[in-house]
Amino acid sequence: MTAGSLWSCVFLLLFSSIRSLWAAEISCKSEDGDPVDWFLLYKLPKYIRKESPRTGLEYMYMDSLTQAWQLSKFLINMTQSALGQTLNQLYEAYISKNDSTAYVIYNDDVPHSKHYSWKQGHTKGFLFLDKSQGFWGIHSIPLFPPFPEEGYGYPPTGKQNAQMAICITFRYNQFAEIDKQLLCYNPNIYSCSIPDIFHPDLPNVQKLCVGSALPLIPWHHLSKLQSAQGENFLH
Ligand SMILES: *[C@@H]1O[C@H](CO)[C@@H](O)[C@H](O)[C@H]1NC(C)=O
Ligand SMILES: *[C@@H]1O[C@H](CO)[C@@H](O)[C@H](O)[C@H]1NC(C)=O
Repeated sequence: MTAGSLWSCVFLLLFSSIRSLWAAEISCKSEDGDPVDWFLLYKLPKYIRKESPRTGLEYMYMDSLTQAWQLSKFLINMTQSALGQTLNQLYEAYISKNDSTAYVIYNDDVPHSKHYSWKQGHTKGFLFLDKSQGFWGIHSIPLFPPFPEEGYGYPPTGKQNAQMAICITFRYNQFAEIDKQLLCYNPNIYSCSIPDIFHPDLPNVQKLCVGSALPLIPWHHLSKLQSAQGENFLH
């Protein structure tokens, strides 16, 4: 074996171990179940002018790997959809009661709830992370996602209108900034778990989760966030 091929072997080994490490980490997931830095989806409305009605579950999808819109081969209510694959990590950790992960799900329109929350932020999303990495999803879908004990699903009320969702993968060090940003949102959290090991870095989210008194909320707050792969996002 020449020195060159030995080096390429070492490199390949290193590369594949980095790859599998990355694969095991919490992240937004593509429809193939691969980790992606970010994805965007746009669920099509049920009725599009001059066309016969669709199911209301088809969606356009784009991620950091494809960087182009394409019609998904899945429907948004399927666990194979990008939202299904991504949220499944949260649902599985919930079932295994994993204390090394934290999650928050919020929506001003809570599943199974008849009254709309006027007092809290008009905002919908979910966070799931461990001390290495995680994701933040932001979307427009009322009554979504289901409580973790119910597993993945899509509400029938979300079929009629168009909806959007964005998911971004972040290294752990970005979540302190996300924590500050969520305080400004005053989100209506309906399911969460923030184990002790996260309290020093996520003080606001922890208070929001248990419903304890909050610090003074700033009127404006612009966050500069960087995704796991180094893309900048302003929020
Ligand atoms: C998704 O919705 C379609 C159309 O309503 C339905 O036929 C299918 O059973 C649903 N799939 C799941 C996994 O809920
Ligand atoms: C708990 O989460 C950690 C970090 O994501 C992971 O390494 C570990 O395998 C999980 N344990 C269980 C029982 O799922």
